[in-house]
Amino acid sequence: MHAYNRTIGVVGGGTMGRGIVQLFAQAGHRVLCYDIAADAAQKAADFVIGLIRRSAEKGRITAAEAQASIGRIGVCEALSELAACDVVIEAVVEDLAVKIDLFRALENIMAESAILASNTSSLVISEIAAGCRRPERVAGLHFFNPVPLMKVAEVVPGARTSTATVESLGTLVAQAGHRAVVAADQPGFLVNHAGRGFYTEALRVLEEGVADVPEIDALLRAAAGFRMGPFELLDLTGLDVSGKVMTSIYEQFQHEPRFRPSSLVPPRIAAGLLGRKSGQGWYRYEGERKQEPVPLAAPPPRSGMRVWIDPAADEHAAIQGLARRSNAELCDAADGAELLIVQFWGQDATGYCVEHGLDARRCVAVDPLPGLSRHRTLMLTPVIMPETRDAAVALLAGDGAPVTVINDSPGFVVQRVLATIVNIAANIAQRGIASVLDIEDAVKLGLGYPHGPLAWGDRIGGSRVLAILQKIRARTGDPRYRPSPWLSRRAELGISLLTPDVARRP
Ligand code: NAI
Repeated sequence: MHAYNRTIGVVGGGTMGRGIVQLFAQAGHRVLCYDIAADAAQKAADFVIGLIRRSAEKGRITAAEAQASIGRIGVCEALSELAACDVVIEAVVEDLAVKIDLFRALENIMAESAILASNTSSLVISEIAAGCRRPERVAGLHFFNPVPLMKVAEVVPGARTSTATVESLGTLVAQAGHRAVVAADQPGFLVNHAGRGFYTEALRVLEEGVADVPEIDALLRAAAGFRMGPFELLDLTGLDVSGKVMTSIYEQFQHEPRFRPSSLVPPRIAAGLLGRKSGQGWYRYEGERKQEPVPLAAPPPRSGMRVWIDPAADEHAAIQGLARRSNAELCDAADGAELLIVQFWGQDATGYCVEHGLDARRCVAVDPLPGLSRHRTLMLTPVIMPETRDAAVALLAGDGAPVTVINDSPGFVVQRVLATIVNIAANIAQRGIASVLDIEDAVKLGLGYPHGPLAWGDRIGGSRVLAILQKIRARTGDPRYRPSPWLSRRAELGISLLTPDVARRP
């Protein structure tokens, strides 16, 4: 069977079905769409045809290409019309019983060699396949919304799926111009599993009163390079939808603490604070527009202040430059200084002061990640004197750069969110849920992160990420921060987190 010009059936003409129809019709395959609701398949086809026509009008494709793609789209009145398909991809309602029944019915009408794929995002592929006589030809094929633009799909073999089925689906996806990654039949597969850290850790930071919602979002955008903050993303997806995913992955992973959902979420869902679709979520919306908080002006600088900068600070010279700029008097010893500035990884400001015998009322901490030239985060101890806090903000903002002030938190905000993301990715590799290369590509393409998570860990430094997690764990006692052995071993050996295990057999 040649990979091109196959006949592909798409069952379910909703959001995902439409995208899948478009992708494969434009990739040169005959695509037949069926939906149980009257006219739904025709509506789906009309929708896709409209998109393809617009794409030609905008000059993205030629009129001839558009016409050819449109000519490849067909609509079925009955499931039995899919009998001649080489592959059927279902994108029906997320309900196990419905999918089992559908695959059973398909198996009875289709050729022995045909492949049955499910676009489910949360069901177990092996459970869907268990209803089939030949589970070896059943697999997950998980696309992301919008399908033509999100250029990655997860191929998910169930426990009995054959290698040939996996390879065949991988080829189909790759020839449509998407990156096919293979993910084990485990909760969240690869992308939704790797994406847990961003939300759960941001919610944890919020729970601990470290910073407010706009501050956490702004930090993760400006200092870490995410396109959207976690709360902006939750508002976009809808908290009802994301809340369900958070709970379902936690339950399916047998209450793994790394995925523990936040108690902040259920009351907000009950109150209808779902996000953009309900007009209010973590933010308020006027139509499509998000109401932005008004930024606070930096306090006026204080000239002649006696400042001590910890010689151990990563950016000692740069902080000294800022202090000189605001006419501070630099002190050699912490004792006589009015303001103490420290920098560290993984600890909180209180812990650092106590460990180094510094006065917590006069001490502030500056996050060394991502570096002062990119963003400045100032962390306070619970007993900081307000005038010292104001002087520290003025000093750090002296050259006009924005400063985010946060409460005491082990690993500030960015260190702990990134360390959590790296740790979860490391554990995905450790469990063999996906290969290192697939993890990296799937996260960049499926989640839009600026770097793959393991490469990101390398940029921060594997041993540094390990130390951050160990220190957060020591401070909080929470097992969610326990480092994955994949990370610990590579950090201890001083090798890249991207290094796979050597094969056990030559
Ligand atoms: P949707 O609600 O937009 O569309 C589902 C379509 O399936 C409807 O047109 C419905 O009439 C039809 N349908 C229901 N039962 C059927 C049956 N027994 N036979 C034939 N057609 C039937 O749903 P959506 O969002 O497209 O999701 C479809 C699947 O894709 C679900 O399994 C979902 O979990 C998964 N998914 C959804 C994503 C999303 O962002 N919406 C992303 C990735 C996966």
